[in-house]
Amino acid sequence: MTLDGPVELDVGAVGHGGVCVAHAPDGRVVLVRHTLPGERVRVAMTEERKSFLRADAVEILDASPHRVEPPCPFAGPGRCGGCDWQHVELAEQRRLKAEVVETALRRIAGVERSVTVLAVPGDGDGLRWRTRMRLAVGPDGRAGLHRHRSDDIEPISDCLIAHPALPVRSVLEQRWPDMEAIDLQASDTASAAGRSWRIPEGGFWQVHPGAPDVLVDAVLHGLELQPADVCVDLYAGVGLFAGAIAPAVPYGAVIAVESHPEAAAAAAANLADLPNVTVVADRVARWLRRGREDTDAVVLDPPRKGAGVAVVADIVARRPRAVAYVACEPAALARDVAAFAAHGWELAGLSAYDIFPMTAHVECVALLRPL
Ligand SMILES: C[S@@+](CC[C@H](N)C(=O)[O-])C[C@H]1O[C@@H](n2cnc3c(N)ncnc32)[C@H](O)[C@@H]1O
Repeated sequence: MTLDGPVELDVGAVGHGGVCVAHAPDGRVVLVRHTLPGERVRVAMTEERKSFLRADAVEILDASPHRVEPPCPFAGPGRCGGCDWQHVELAEQRRLKAEVVETALRRIAGVERSVTVLAVPGDGDGLRWRTRMRLAVGPDGRAGLHRHRSDDIEPISDCLIAHPALPVRSVLEQRWPDMEAIDLQASDTASAAGRSWRIPEGGFWQVHPGAPDVLVDAVLHGLELQPADVCVDLYAGVGLFAGAIAPAVPYGAVIAVESHPEAAAAAAANLADLPNVTVVADRVARWLRRGREDTDAVVLDPPRKGAGVAVVADIVARRPRAVAYVACEPAALARDVAAFAAHGWELAGLSAYDIFPMTAHVECVALLRPL
């Protein structure tokens, strides 16, 4: 099969990253965007590799009952690449994400687990939640969003997932010569876990306003902390989990480890009123290698690539009672769950949240315990 000419395909299960899996007449896997499991579609090939192809569904011959008219006029084949599931009803988006997490756990970690992806409070229709975003600027000085897997920019007049506090429309109306991108942030402060937070430019903060409290609740619930526990918050950002854990361990201690210097400084300032918190500006792997002190509980919230087997081994060496692993990438989580399993640990619980509606992203909080 070549990239030329339209091809009709029967679409199978959901895959990773906003695609569904189909098979080309020559047997190769085709990762199809803009479709849903069970549909028959006409596709245009967008990329050809030796072992698989990528395609966009450009005509729906037999539609899924879960297909809807995309609320965003800029979504669709060849258009804005920011969202993956605009054409899918919200409940089905969550079911698809649950299947992606279940499949990653089964295939990569050998764990069978039924997953439910929950909406977060304040999210009614999956729109207007993104409190931070980067707009790309084209050679003509107009801002827009990148097309899928492309440097090309889709001109847009609004973004329906952008929070109302972001001045997206006014930025899009202006011209930005000599700029490559424009970063928008609703505020440099936030309230969560009963505290106020300062977020420096470039410092991490969850983009969905409903996310921080839900994730904090899941972590606290999973760790079952005791008042004298010694806890570690790895990849701590501006200190969200350390700040929530500290009052639960008044006779214990929390060490928060974060490598981004401005974020670590903001964490120290944000948590300055909590005498049992220490913030360390360091890389997690390096900090873990420095000591083997017994630790009662660990929360880790790594970037998309996950923690990795060496960090997992060093966490296990501290013999915690429980680990809460906050994960934005199911495949990396599954690999690390397998790494914990190799040390005799089990996946004792998993909750999943739809903090990125309309996109293929999903957030999990996994609870791991030694057997
Ligand atoms: C997903 S964010 C989590 C932040 C925080 N837990 C929160 O919920 O707001 C991951 C954080 O890890 C930090 N980071 C990335 N790699 C790191 C490393 N090797 N060591 C320490 N921190 C790291 C990033 O700067 C970022 O703040």
